[in-house]
Amino acid sequence: MSIRRLYNVADVRDRARRRLPKGIFEFIDRGTEDDLAMRRNRAAFEQLQLRPQVGVDVSARHTRTQLFGREMSLPLAIAPTGAAGLVWYRGELELAKAAATAGIPFTLATRSMTAVEDIAAQAKGRLWFQLYMWTERELSYGLVERAQRAGCEALIVTLDVPVAPNREYNLRNGFSLPFRLGARSMFDMLRRPRWLSGVMGRYLATTGMPRYENQPGRHRNRLTQGDAAAPLRSDAITWDDVRELRRRWQGPLLVKGILRVDDALRAVAAGADGVIVSNHGGRCLDCSVAPLEALPRIADTLAGRATVLLDSGIRRGSDIAKALTLGAAAVLSGRPTLYGMAAAGQAGARHVIGLLQAELLTTLGMLGCTGVHELGPHLLQEEPAAIEHLLAQLDASTGAGSAAPGAGVEKHSLKGLVS
Ligand SMILES: Cc1cc2nc3c(=O)[nH]c(=O)nc-3n(C[C@H](O)[C@H](O)[C@H](O)COP(=O)(O)O)c2cc1C
Repeated sequence: MSIRRLYNVADVRDRARRRLPKGIFEFIDRGTEDDLAMRRNRAAFEQLQLRPQVGVDVSARHTRTQLFGREMSLPLAIAPTGAAGLVWYRGELELAKAAATAGIPFTLATRSMTAVEDIAAQAKGRLWFQLYMWTERELSYGLVERAQRAGCEALIVTLDVPVAPNREYNLRNGFSLPFRLGARSMFDMLRRPRWLSGVMGRYLATTGMPRYENQPGRHRNRLTQGDAAAPLRSDAITWDDVRELRRRWQGPLLVKGILRVDDALRAVAAGADGVIVSNHGGRCLDCSVAPLEALPRIADTLAGRATVLLDSGIRRGSDIAKALTLGAAAVLSGRPTLYGMAAAGQAGARHVIGLLQAELLTTLGMLGCTGVHELGPHLLQEEPAAIEHLLAQLDASTGAGSAAPGAGVEKHSLKGLVS
């Protein structure tokens, strides 16, 4: 069945589930522990309601916006995910190409399987780099220099995984990184022959088992190899490290994994140009607040001081509209384009971006907006000042008000509705 018949992200996810070995599908699809944070992320979007404006000419609407002084076709960037190379052969490169064609930034993850230099040379689009800072700092600084030399525009430092998350489903599925070939994982892969030959088979026939190409020297090991993990631990990273990264990085610096106003302010004080309000798609702390709920206060506080982005739970174009209404400048999306990659590689990822853009365009039209710059708090709550103004205009044009019998009563009751 053609991907054109996958009408929304849920359809694409379903296709991905049928294409991938269960261990890999659940690794990308699920959260942590009981998946509560992941469900709350969705619930926050589902519960938010907007008030459409009617009678507006929306015939010439568009989704374009600007971020860090550069244009993008819609307020969306691809979030860093260390697994694109597992769902499709050279998946990170294909995903980066899909983003470039769509005119949106792609973020390469530290733990991806394609070197930052290769992505920069071959994908040709806007490239951001995500950094997991390691306790052995010099290793990270080397990687930051590589990303800068390769021409990455922005550096995203992720702070919300100080320790390894508790993901029991991986154990149950016999899925682990480093990749171990046990009876369960072998059986799982054999049940997905298309993936086995099209992804793993192609790696083995060409480059061999993929490596973490962005890890430094002796840590650039293959997926199946373990690591002397200590130097690559991230459990002692502090705001001083962000300050040091600021000193080293020329270009926008973003801190990812912010859910509190005080941390957002600490990030900006440490020199960040922006924050990504995120709970890692519900993959780290299962009792964490939904980013969409944390967003309004963070966006209000940072307004005019720094850029606020959001991720975790975007599945519809209307979700992008909701995040922008609550103050985000743009959003990132992780799983949806991974589903797209699993379904049909670059074309699948491009299809997902197209779906989100088309849905956003529809949402804008329905809301009475011609562009994403018109999304704002007036779509959540009617503004008393605007209503007072309309009332005054109405009274002036009709001569209503104190002169007309009963008019004062009506006006009073309308005021009651507004307050
Ligand atoms: C399979 C997978 C791998 C991820 N790997 C990383 C990573 O290496 N670094 C990082 O900062 N975030 C990582 N994330 C989190 C995403 O960047 C993003 O925060 C999250 O996917 C957003 O939620 P969504 O999937 O609901 O869009 C990963 C997410 C997934 C699903």
